[in-house]
Amino acid sequence: MSSWRVKPLDQILATAEKKSLKRQLGAFQLTMLGIGAIIGTGIFVLTAEAGQKAGPAMMVAFVIAAVVCGLAALAYSELAAMVPVSGSAYTYTYAVLGEALAWSVGWALVLEYAIAAGAVAVGWSGYMNGLLMSAGYPIPEALRTGPYAGGTFNLLAFLISLVVTFLLVIGTSKSAKVNAVLVSIKVVALTAFIIIAVPAAQDANFKPFFPTGWGSPLGGVGVLGAAASIFFAYVGFDAVSTAAEETKNPNRNIPIGLIASLGVCTVFYMLVSYGAVGAGGAQPMMGANGLALHPGTPELAAACKGSTELVCSNEPLAHVLRMLGFAKWGNAIGIAAALALPSVILMMIFGQTRIFFTMSRDGLLPQVLSKVHPRFHTPHVVTIITGLFVSLFAALFPVGILADISNSGTLFAFMMVSIGVLVLRKTQPDRPRPFRTPLVWVVCPLAVFGCILLFLNLSMYTISLFLGWAVIGALVYAFYGYRKSELAPGSVAYKAAADAKLEPEPSFHEGPQA
Ligand code: ALA
Repeated sequence: MSSWRVKPLDQILATAEKKSLKRQLGAFQLTMLGIGAIIGTGIFVLTAEAGQKAGPAMMVAFVIAAVVCGLAALAYSELAAMVPVSGSAYTYTYAVLGEALAWSVGWALVLEYAIAAGAVAVGWSGYMNGLLMSAGYPIPEALRTGPYAGGTFNLLAFLISLVVTFLLVIGTSKSAKVNAVLVSIKVVALTAFIIIAVPAAQDANFKPFFPTGWGSPLGGVGVLGAAASIFFAYVGFDAVSTAAEETKNPNRNIPIGLIASLGVCTVFYMLVSYGAVGAGGAQPMMGANGLALHPGTPELAAACKGSTELVCSNEPLAHVLRMLGFAKWGNAIGIAAALALPSVILMMIFGQTRIFFTMSRDGLLPQVLSKVHPRFHTPHVVTIITGLFVSLFAALFPVGILADISNSGTLFAFMMVSIGVLVLRKTQPDRPRPFRTPLVWVVCPLAVFGCILLFLNLSMYTISLFLGWAVIGALVYAFYGYRKSELAPGSVAYKAAADAKLEPEPSFHEGPQA
């Protein structure tokens, strides 16, 4: 058999058909699901990092990241509507570009989901520590942040990741009602911030506007470097596609959910970034050489010690409101973030386990990962392994580094999806397309270009880690996945996978309450 194994689209659709969930989600609920996964650590925490990289011009970075995500969302919508099954970019790539590339996308999605979960956990700990301090119960300083951010072990980030893992093992899943409440909390918090901060904006805070310039490839600073980082704030809209199998009229509603959730968040982010810069100022901390210090380095942590600059804050939105004299509202934002961010961690770990599960079902990862708990009916083995890794990453690494690594995987996956759309237009032009990416030969190449541009503006450190991860992935595929794949000649994996019974996941609508 050739190494160019493609899993036929019809086979994928037939598998999904067998294990079907009740279709009851509409466009509105999908949009809420998307907003629930999008608004998180990015806007609540990484606003400070974007300021450190770009100064007030971080507002431009927010726009650039939104454009790249918007283009990718248009591409995503076409495939998500054509292949409305779980597994996301990994499944699409398997059908369009073949097993080896699907493996590389699935491997990159580990960065997107598992590392993002760690990043959100660290972001959550920043707000939680702020709340504990203002309540007069601070935990010891060494346990507030990891080693790269001035501390030793980020205890709260570690614990929240374990708690979320436990909830997932016992079967807590996404619930439409809980999600709607948490989305409302986040939206009210951001609205309050906008109402207070935007009118307090002062001209002086916008000058100089471009203190670090546009940045240069592999540099990780400047406006493009900030865009590459703040991209994290928009990630999550693809979670909409994971609910494909429980959506009414998915061909219409999935594209609406993807694009509407991204659109709503973009409007909020524009206003929040204007308010943060205008009211809080966002000038970067400079090193002795006159250049902006890199986020996530001990040098910046040292320069920030005792500083009240926005770019140094672990809870920048709350910090701005406190500086403006609205301490109670600052605390309220802290409480909103503390309440709502764990659900983003939950969605990210959930997404990760389902992708591992699908890859294991396809024979590319060991079958033990698709083992299902007899009582809870959840893939407990893969959930616990994933959760332990997430907890350790969260305890040891700073939010900015984790977010950048996660972005590298996401940008790769988005790029492959955009290429996949074009390939499928050529190879299967007559297959029904309920949603067609408009101006596909302009939009998809631009999405690919945007993803490459942002990828190259991550730091050298992040790109090296991505490449290292890719090499490990290639070895695992060569020595394991390639031989054990269900598409390998004489494989028994498919039969084994068919015998491993995963109870249908509780639907998003019906699932136990998170
Ligand atoms: N967009 C999500 C967040 O910012 C991942 O937390």
